[in-house]
Amino acid sequence: MQKIKLNNGVYMPLVGLGVFQIDDLEECEQTVLTAIASGYRLIDTASMYLNETAVGNAIRKSDVPREELFITTKLWVQDTGYENTKRAFEDSLKKLQVDYIDLYLLHQAMGDYYGSWRAMEDLYKEGKIRAIGISNFFPDRVVDFIAHNEILPAINQIEINPFYQRDGEIELLKQNGIATQSWASFAEGKNGIFNNDLLTSIGRQYNKSVAQVILRWLTQREIAVIPKSVHKERLLENADIHDFELSAEDMDAIATLDTGKSVFFDHREPETAEWLTKLRYDA
Ligand SMILES: NC(=O)c1ccc[n+]([C@@H]2O[C@H](COP(=O)([O-])OP(=O)(O)OC[C@H]3O[C@@H](n4cnc5c(N)ncnc54)[C@H](OP(=O)(O)O)[C@@H]3O)[C@@H](O)[C@H]2O)c1
Repeated sequence: MQKIKLNNGVYMPLVGLGVFQIDDLEECEQTVLTAIASGYRLIDTASMYLNETAVGNAIRKSDVPREELFITTKLWVQDTGYENTKRAFEDSLKKLQVDYIDLYLLHQAMGDYYGSWRAMEDLYKEGKIRAIGISNFFPDRVVDFIAHNEILPAINQIEINPFYQRDGEIELLKQNGIATQSWASFAEGKNGIFNNDLLTSIGRQYNKSVAQVILRWLTQREIAVIPKSVHKERLLENADIHDFELSAEDMDAIATLDTGKSVFFDHREPETAEWLTKLRYDA
């Protein structure tokens, strides 16, 4: 598995498995075990996904040593603030059945996320987290966050797919030493992405699937990916993207698919902020 070097020197796999919406806990555990046996080393979960325990069971049962795995989890809005974050972090450790987290992310730029970051900085300094980062931060929040905190986030995990490309934002992150990780690289299958004519015809040239073209389009620019699949053949397919290179013409052609808009919702809309504030999980 290829890796990228984060701004604190920690190496993170470029390709990992995301487990959002794998709600059946047995299926989640089995998927993570299959992914690890297939060569995956990074697993991306979140307290809000309610499947940290299933991920933890798979980590415990797998024969790959803990230190070879890279585990990401995220702090939800309801747990923001200094003390709450420390509590939520301990809860995630317990569910994941590990004694450190590789990457801990602020899931949203909402609530007392500055208080949370202070707790995350302390946990990082204590060696309980190897890297800390952010998710769903837009450029204004990123700039403010860098200016008012001691530790620079290692990554920003944001929605990026062929329909929402965000080149300017990725450049801003890069200039500031923050790596980008794409969520919903496949737009969760929306807008007929897997049958898109352009992506299909590009794939044909390289004997690769649409999924592989998308993941290559991202990783070729060092954008990390965490595609979700519960199917072994797709897990293998999604990891098999290192033996070809998209030409500059193909990259330019894919750029034309950008709509400049999220496939899901705009985090900056008041309705979205209200919905996310009300969205709570039962720990
Ligand atoms: N930070 C955030 O706010 C945030 C938000 C959303 C997601 N995420 C993270 O990002 C990860 C990925 O995003 P996502 O799960 O939302 O969506 P996604 O990866 O864009 O799409 C997943 C969908 O694509 C299908 N699929 C996967 N590989 C395929 C292939 N090779 N061919 C055809 N279909 C394929 C999957 O179906 P099957 O499973 O049936 O194969 C599933 O329906 C999440 O799991 C989560 O870890 C983070």
